[in-house]
Amino acid sequence: MEQVPVISFRGVTKQYEDGVPVLNDVSFDIERGKFYTLLGPSGCGKTTILRLIAGFMEPTSGEIRMDGKLINDLPANKRQVNTVFQDYALFPHLNVFDNVAFGLRIRKLKKDEIERKVEEALRFVNLEGYGKREIREMSGGQRQRVAIARAIVNEPKLLLLDEPLSALDLKLRTEMQYELRELQRRLGITFIFVTHDQEEALAMSDEIFVLNKGIIEQSGTPTDIYDEPINRFVADFIGESNIVPGRMLDDYRVEFAGKEFECVDRGLRRGEPVEIVIRPEDLEMTAAGAGKLAATVDTQLFRGVHYEIICMDDSGNEWMVHSTRKAVVGEAIGLDFDPEAIHVMRFGESEEDFDRRLEGYEEAENAEEAALRRELGEGPPIVETGRPGGNS
Ligand SMILES: Nc1ncnc2c1ncn2[C@@H]1O[C@H](COP(=O)(O)OP(=O)(O)OP(=O)(O)O)[C@@H](O)[C@H]1O
Ligand SMILES: [Mg+2]
Repeated sequence: MEQVPVISFRGVTKQYEDGVPVLNDVSFDIERGKFYTLLGPSGCGKTTILRLIAGFMEPTSGEIRMDGKLINDLPANKRQVNTVFQDYALFPHLNVFDNVAFGLRIRKLKKDEIERKVEEALRFVNLEGYGKREIREMSGGQRQRVAIARAIVNEPKLLLLDEPLSALDLKLRTEMQYELRELQRRLGITFIFVTHDQEEALAMSDEIFVLNKGIIEQSGTPTDIYDEPINRFVADFIGESNIVPGRMLDDYRVEFAGKEFECVDRGLRRGEPVEIVIRPEDLEMTAAGAGKLAATVDTQLFRGVHYEIICMDDSGNEWMVHSTRKAVVGEAIGLDFDPEAIHVMRFGESEEDFDRRLEGYEEAENAEEAALRRELGEGPPIVETGRPGGNS
């Protein structure tokens, strides 16, 4: 039996007073017990989504459901949701212990139970023994950890974390990434984590929503998103990418850099202009004359584990190659890659836009064909089978 999602958004739009919508027709499902990440650049609407889930404001239109029940106007305190805010929002006049204990006291738990839970939460965030400290005596990173402790101590159904690790130094940040992930597994509660750091998103998530200007560009597992970015925005935002223009010749045939290549993509229109993504680690540097493309080495940087080599092919496309072998600047080389390394992307489109556009092609083609037939005085159009471009 299908599980009812903990949270579902259907066609949710949010517009702040007479501004442009900051969320535009957003739909998604959050399943129980998973670690989700909202990933996107500053201002794309990440915090807005969290505020809507937490109940700090209502959507302009659309439906928000929790466990199947419509909650558009359910007040925040009636939702079993806790939030770690981007600016921590701690109580400055309370000490660390009292900040963490706040929610438990509201729930009127017994004194010794409160003490036990608060100590446990502080231990989790590496702040054992800091209970008596005032908030103003804590560093930025320590305040952030108090905020995390204050949220997890309530064992909510859903924990929202708005860039909770951004103020921490690299070492502590990595440690906290492991620990948060571990805590999520242990508690089995659903986490919705916000970050604009793609490596953090890839390392921590079961599922990532990539946001841009108030829409979800792509959602999927870290490997889905890394290996099959749907468009230039996602490919650019997630990891290093080579992106060059190309053209789909047929199913499994694509043209770029003035040559034809076998690929694994299908279902695009014949002749459709596309963008080609090949990750630097999927390009192999070969001797000149070997490989699939001829190129000349432009620059080379040593990056510790690998060399980062920038080269130029004969059509003027730039390629970044990650190689454990050294290159020589100015040297002619070959570039080799597998058909699976070629990712064909639709031009700057979301998945929904792409589907709509394919439907548009189909209608236009049918109309054209009907007009042609009328002109020739022939009968009704032949019924199309299969996807447009797939076998025409
Ligand atoms: N209270 C508000 N009134 C008007 N506009 C707002 C308000 N809050 C946010 N916005 C606008 O909505 C857009 C999305 O804001 P939001 O805070 O959701 O972005 P974000 O993805 O969390 O960004 P960041 O990574 O910088 O935190 C921004 O353009 C922002 O200026
Ligand atoms: Mg934000």
